[in-house]
Amino acid sequence: MFQLDAHPSGRHFLQIPGPTNVPDRVLRAIDRPTIDHRGPEFARLTHEILDGLKEIFRTASPIVTYAASGTGAWEAALVNTLSPGDRVLMFETGHFATLWRALAERLGLVVDFVPGDWRSGVDPVLVEAKLAEDKTGAVKAVLAVHNETSTGVASRIAEVRQAIDRAGHPALLMVDTISSLASIDYRHDEWGVDVTVAGSQKGLMLPPGLSFNAVSDKALAAGKQAKLPRSYWRWDETIAMNRQGYFPSTPATNLLYGLHEALAMLREEGLANVFARHARHAEATRRAVRAWGLEVLCRNPAEYSNSLTAVMMPEGHDADALRKEILARYDLSLGTGLGKLAGRVFRIGHLGWFNDLMLCGTLCGVEMGLAVCDVPYRKGGVGEALECLQHPGTTATTTTQKKRAA
Ligand SMILES: Cc1ncc(COP(=O)(O)O)c(C=O)c1O
Repeated sequence: MFQLDAHPSGRHFLQIPGPTNVPDRVLRAIDRPTIDHRGPEFARLTHEILDGLKEIFRTASPIVTYAASGTGAWEAALVNTLSPGDRVLMFETGHFATLWRALAERLGLVVDFVPGDWRSGVDPVLVEAKLAEDKTGAVKAVLAVHNETSTGVASRIAEVRQAIDRAGHPALLMVDTISSLASIDYRHDEWGVDVTVAGSQKGLMLPPGLSFNAVSDKALAAGKQAKLPRSYWRWDETIAMNRQGYFPSTPATNLLYGLHEALAMLREEGLANVFARHARHAEATRRAVRAWGLEVLCRNPAEYSNSLTAVMMPEGHDADALRKEILARYDLSLGTGLGKLAGRVFRIGHLGWFNDLMLCGTLCGVEMGLAVCDVPYRKGGVGEALECLQHPGTTATTTTQKKRAA
């Protein structure tokens, strides 16, 4: 029979790029009696959560919360704004962009899917060129995944916005921040995003089960003309009822308790510090990878993800065999290669509730795994990461490199 907590002694290392480790404080908050979701206490909870979320999304606009995984919020973004046959512009940045495209097509949208190499983000130059070609305004929306969880590549959303503006195009901008929100700098209002899609299970440090749409006035206006059928996903009813502190259907009350606590934790740490922590751990991870003689999948340093690092395996070595061995020996879960990257990369998640020693443990597990699986690598990645954590300003010559050069 399936047994929860069947792991050996000590804490399991859940270093997939989400769901992430849920802080004990959040677990304790969830573990409280469920209350009446039509009662007075609940309205206070809703209002405090919606105010807290606005700080995280960096918006003054409404945020719609769903009891659904991120895929639900993808669908909600589209059905609330578009009509059957509408054209949308998307970029093949990886597995999640490909899945969002499939969802859009199933809804009857026509997707112009710009091919990509799964190692790069959305190219703002191409956004501008594609929209400049569209003299009739046929493209109704540009859909971008901010942080491609399958590749560890973060697209430059502020530059995508500027590209849309340079083309003078009226398309809506919709951005998936499922693995970037509360981990990597993101600004819904300042970057002129019309719909931000997010989920609970990554930077927000909650279990899976909640997802979100932050919605601009322009998106709300587009919704008035949009003809795609929608019922559960309708924004208008939720926004109206949220003003009173309630939801049209039964909300995920206990997850909302957890969200309330997670928002408090993020506020206590300060969003700028949260981003800096993620950046520091990401840099230490990349230094370890390079020291091992392995390659980071992301090609362009300006697009490095601060929430995860996808590591390419040397030719002839299977990433899943390595992951399997690391899990069996060290109780460490790493992310699998998705879609066309299956077997070719493993992904180290370093987002959410995470600290220096958790990163060190994770990197130790990887380094030991490389050795036992006979993957060709150089020792010293962990040492390189330690050096980086202790002296984050140093870039090139670390102790390990000095030794190697001597
Ligand atoms: C960037 C991104 N978008 C969308 C999704 C899909 O979300 P879910 O699996 O919660 O439905 C994920 C899941 O990991 C993701 O990482």
